[in-house]
Amino acid sequence: MRVLVVGSGGREHALAWALSASPLLTKLWVAPGNPGTALVAENVGIAALHIERLVQFAREHAVDLVVPGPEGPLVAGLADAMAQAGICCIGPTAAAARLEGSKAFAKQLCNDAGIPTALWEQFTDVEEARAFIRRRGAPVVVKADGLASGKGVVVAATVEAAEAALDAIMRDRSFGDSGASVVIEECLMGEEISLFALCDGTDAVFLGAAQDHKRLGDGDIGPNTGGMGALSPVPGFDPGPAMDGFIRPALAEMARRGTPFRGILFAGLMLTADGAKLIEYNVRFGDPECQVLLPRLRSDLLPALLAACDGELGRFDLRWNAGAAVAVVMAAPGYPAAPEPGSDIGDLSAAAAVPGALVFQAGTRLDSGRLLADGGRVLTICGTGADAAAARAVAYQAVEAVPWTEGIYRTDIGVRSQYK
Ligand code: AMP
Ligand code: GLY
Repeated sequence: MRVLVVGSGGREHALAWALSASPLLTKLWVAPGNPGTALVAENVGIAALHIERLVQFAREHAVDLVVPGPEGPLVAGLADAMAQAGICCIGPTAAAARLEGSKAFAKQLCNDAGIPTALWEQFTDVEEARAFIRRRGAPVVVKADGLASGKGVVVAATVEAAEAALDAIMRDRSFGDSGASVVIEECLMGEEISLFALCDGTDAVFLGAAQDHKRLGDGDIGPNTGGMGALSPVPGFDPGPAMDGFIRPALAEMARRGTPFRGILFAGLMLTADGAKLIEYNVRFGDPECQVLLPRLRSDLLPALLAACDGELGRFDLRWNAGAAVAVVMAAPGYPAAPEPGSDIGDLSAAAAVPGALVFQAGTRLDSGRLLADGGRVLTICGTGADAAAARAVAYQAVEAVPWTEGIYRTDIGVRSQYK
């Protein structure tokens, strides 16, 4: 099998790492990749959103399977373009990627399919939205309808903060056309869980669950980020009811509408006092969740992705390693607002040599043989072990073996699970 992974983050490094272990693999490329993916695959200098060039490359190199990491290319039609060229791509069509590309679309689907979610209203008029916020009061959640690189959601503690978010999204168009409409929702309280399923349009297989740590600082304080660390499995979480409540009905409704969902469906759930409720759907693996799920996967990832492409997941089962994985993200100083590029990361071999540890690269760059920080989230250091505490100890031992002194990270990833 000749496989092309699309993307350049820690998630894509983990995907390339997992695929590179498959006995079915003959050649692996990552576009555009990073210095980490270059250790397990060949990097191709094509941006993830350059769909035409990706299709051309896949054609010219007889690629058998395309594995997209991020949502952007999927929402922009990467899977459709590959299908037209007769190339298998394990991701949803643009029509099915609306599950992530439009919050209002996902919320309407929840209502139509009876999937529990926060109460919501959609607005295209800023003054009507403002009046609704004032009537409803705080706390309240304001979301740009379209994609906003994970930054278009504000959980507002006060009416003033909600109105400021509304003005930024709708009036100032901080996220461009993604703010042409907003969804305003009830604020849910509880533990958040990321649930993953591999889907073939009809059937779904559980791909693991993880707990992300979104806030920048220890103890869940500071600004929201793309995710500062993750833990899998989630102690006490039973995936069976969640698959039946949030994945299967969404698949059935998408198929009923004539836009079946094929690919990785990520349900962000809030475990509230009233039971689990959907926060959002994503149409891809999470980052850093992917980095804790794949090290736990005992089965070969490649045949699973192919079965999903071929609509044959009904007969498929995945096996998992016992134990747990903890991933710690190391970010550049200034992240998330203004990460400083260019600091020297140094030699990662001591970290990678810690037994049970895996080092995934994201925002890194090689300059005359020196590895430099070149983005917000720079490294994901993953530890595996018999349980969360053991995995955590491995992860932090490896973090301490990274010579990069400027890197910032949380020291409490996966800690909470120990109290459960
Ligand atoms: P999203 O981009 O939809 O994942 O939202 C980002 C984060 O905002 C989520 O991970 C939650 O922590 C928070 N969030 C989103 N919607 C809600 C809600 N209705 N109630 C409480 N928190 C929310
Ligand atoms: N870590 C959350 C996400 O990938 O959306």
